[in-house]
Amino acid sequence: MVIPIDKIAIFASGTGSNAKKIIQHCSDIPEIEIAMVLSNRPNAKVLQTATENNIPTKVLDRNTFYQSSDLVEELKKAEIDWLILAGFLWLVPPYLIEAYPNKILNIHPALLPKFGGKGMYGARVHQAVFEANQQQSGPTIHYVNAHYDEGAIIFQATCQITPTDQPEDIAKKVLQLEHQYYPIVIESLIKKNRSIKSTKKVLQ
Ligand code: GRF
Repeated sequence: MVIPIDKIAIFASGTGSNAKKIIQHCSDIPEIEIAMVLSNRPNAKVLQTATENNIPTKVLDRNTFYQSSDLVEELKKAEIDWLILAGFLWLVPPYLIEAYPNKILNIHPALLPKFGGKGMYGARVHQAVFEANQQQSGPTIHYVNAHYDEGAIIFQATCQITPTDQPEDIAKKVLQLEHQYYPIVIESLIKKNRSIKSTKKVLQ
């Protein structure tokens, strides 16, 4: 029996510690393949990680990304089913959202809808959480729409912030939860979609 495979393209701008966890996790799942890693930064560490794992990479050019929809053709040619953003800093253009409805996910390092939006990334997010004296933080995994951090929320995990925690401590706690949950949330969402698809086929 041939098992149909769901193919993922990971989009990341930097270190790619989440991307690495996703790659490691999915290497043991026969139905899921990380088929491409894309970055807007040619020397992003995530591209190195991809190459070490024999995953094809692509560096995005800003003009092409925003002024043409060539990327869709390339992704479809590679039979990509899901786009997973893991620390990708560019706003996803409408043509890509239309081509992959409910198939683009992002992870944000705070409990949305608070502490999100344009310019809210990296250390800035944890600084804002710290300054707002929050007692909890944690990652949010959500669908991507045309606005930064506004798509429907799929999953959140929380950690406690103690009175002595500095922004760097909050960042560490949140990142640990990201690594723990992003790969399994991706896996379960993909598998859930597959079972919905096959149920529909049986009912037809
Ligand atoms: C993570 O904190 C994620 O929530 C945010 O960007 C960061 C990426 O970190 N979107 P890494 O590159 O995966 O280490």
